[in-house]
Amino acid sequence: MSVEDAVSNREAVANQERVDILLVDDQPAKLLSYEAILGQLGENLIKAASAAEALEQLLKRKIAIILIDVCMPDLDGFQLASMIRDHPRFQTTAIIFVSAIQVTDLDLLRGYALGAVDYVPVPVVPELLRAKVKVFAELYRKTRQLESLNAELENRVAERTAELARANAELEERVDERTREREAALAQVHEMQKLESLGQLTGGVAHDFNNLLMAILGNLELVRKRVDDERAVRLVDGAIQGAERGATLTKRMLAFARRQELKPEAVDIAKLVDSMIEMLRRSVGPTIEITTEFEPGLAPTRVDPNQLELALLNLSVNARDAMPNGGHLNITARADRVAAGQMPGLMPGDYVFIGITDTGCGMDEATLRRAAEPFFTTKDRGRGTGLGLSMVDGLVGQSGGAMRIGSRPGFGTTVELWLPASPAGEADREHPAAPSIAGETRTLRVLVVDDDPIVRASTVAMIEDLGHRALEAASAADALEVLRAAPQVDAVITDYAMPGVTGTALAAKLGQIRPGLPVIIATGYADMVPQASTLPRLDKPYRQKELAALLETLLERHVPAKVVSQGGDCYGAAAGGPGR
Ligand SMILES: Nc1ncnc2c1ncn2[C@@H]1O[C@H](COP(=O)(O)OP(=O)(O)OP(=O)(O)O)[C@@H](O)[C@H]1O
Ligand SMILES: [Mg+2]
Repeated sequence: MSVEDAVSNREAVANQERVDILLVDDQPAKLLSYEAILGQLGENLIKAASAAEALEQLLKRKIAIILIDVCMPDLDGFQLASMIRDHPRFQTTAIIFVSAIQVTDLDLLRGYALGAVDYVPVPVVPELLRAKVKVFAELYRKTRQLESLNAELENRVAERTAELARANAELEERVDERTREREAALAQVHEMQKLESLGQLTGGVAHDFNNLLMAILGNLELVRKRVDDERAVRLVDGAIQGAERGATLTKRMLAFARRQELKPEAVDIAKLVDSMIEMLRRSVGPTIEITTEFEPGLAPTRVDPNQLELALLNLSVNARDAMPNGGHLNITARADRVAAGQMPGLMPGDYVFIGITDTGCGMDEATLRRAAEPFFTTKDRGRGTGLGLSMVDGLVGQSGGAMRIGSRPGFGTTVELWLPASPAGEADREHPAAPSIAGETRTLRVLVVDDDPIVRASTVAMIEDLGHRALEAASAADALEVLRAAPQVDAVITDYAMPGVTGTALAAKLGQIRPGLPVIIATGYADMVPQASTLPRLDKPYRQKELAALLETLLERHVPAKVVSQGGDCYGAAAGGPGR
């Protein structure tokens, strides 16, 4: 029974619903007299002239009280009562015997033994019979009321229990959800910490390698000029090529560690891709079709164009390797706005979205998860460095954007690059023409400052080979001393990252002694060089011709070394993680 049913039942009973009273007597006159006596009670009176009729009525209705004449011809009242009591439905139904003849104590006892609730002798006193029947009718009603109250209570308890179970399940689900979220956040933090450590390690290693490569390349170049033997030249060329490959590798490592030298400018993506499309086609081969889709009037993005070209080349080569039997490579670009919290790692604002989609083999979940990790590769030994995607990720990260990869085995791969849109109206910077080395040369005095003796020696050798004179200093303090002692220095080349002091801070101090003295910063660790610094720079490992060209431009144009004061700009303080 539902709560509603129980309530309506209880209300019905409470509203004095009439109860059924069965009158059993073989004499119609007596039945009529009972009817007359009990009619005042306002209950339903049902008459039965025989035991059989009485049983039929009992089974048909819900009888509350049975009034039975003890003496009946076929089945006497006692027998009928005994049959009624045998039925499980009527074990508590009130039975009242009425008898004119058998009214001995024994009869009464027998009647009560059969479950009668009363025994009324004839002649019946009407008030007495009415009062007795009324009591049992009331009792019946109260019992039903109690039953329906009980049912209602049970229903309520069941409903509350169900509600509680639901709330409990909901709570458990929430706890599970929170636990999952927490675990995911922890995993992300762990992943970030791992990449951070890897970045620091990679950046440190790359920095040291860069210095070594600087010395190796510089010296190899000088050696090459001095050997005449053709075989020896070939060997030296091989060594230079090897060192150059090493330099490319360290550049990728620095890119991943977000410590590469970036020269960001406003870049029109459509123009940039168009200008390199032929090169991309040659790189991926004729079996791969390259298509492009660019939103008309797309705003420029701020990024280092050379590095972005390299990134797109890396992604195209990855796509090529994923499509050994040919396929389709699509490059798209459009403007997009990112809302707060919409994309992890991206500040809200305007971006240029670049999508590189291939129809290649795709990646399974495990590969996808690790694809951008440095040194992670699924290519055969010696065929992949595992630094391609790391470089791209590092570049867009360092440029204020983010990279996302979507891939499914058999369904190709899309690499998304989000780069900050350039403020409106920003024009492309003019590229200064590469300075030529040609022209009249004069002997210069160049002060070389580097704490690494191998790198210093190699720079000195390059300068001397160019016909200039080199002065050496192993520290900033040394450099200041040399300058004081030999004021006729024409230019200074200083390392950026030196113990206790940066190249820019040294330049400021040198400028105090000799205002306008040209100072060149040599670094492979550029993200630490303050953006405000306008000092001319050389990226390590640099080649002799680059050094010569820069020296020439500086001195020819008399570009004074614009010294920016860098208070507290010490290397130790500036050093940091890859900024993830
Ligand atoms: N477009 C792609 N389709 C399928 N798998 C890819 C794709 N791009 C990258 N991968 C997977 O990610 C791995 C890492 O790529 P990443 O460019 O960093 O290194 P690599 O390509 O293996 O090495 P390298 O770039 O030096 O050639 C690849 O080895 C490959 O398993
Ligand atoms: Mg690659």
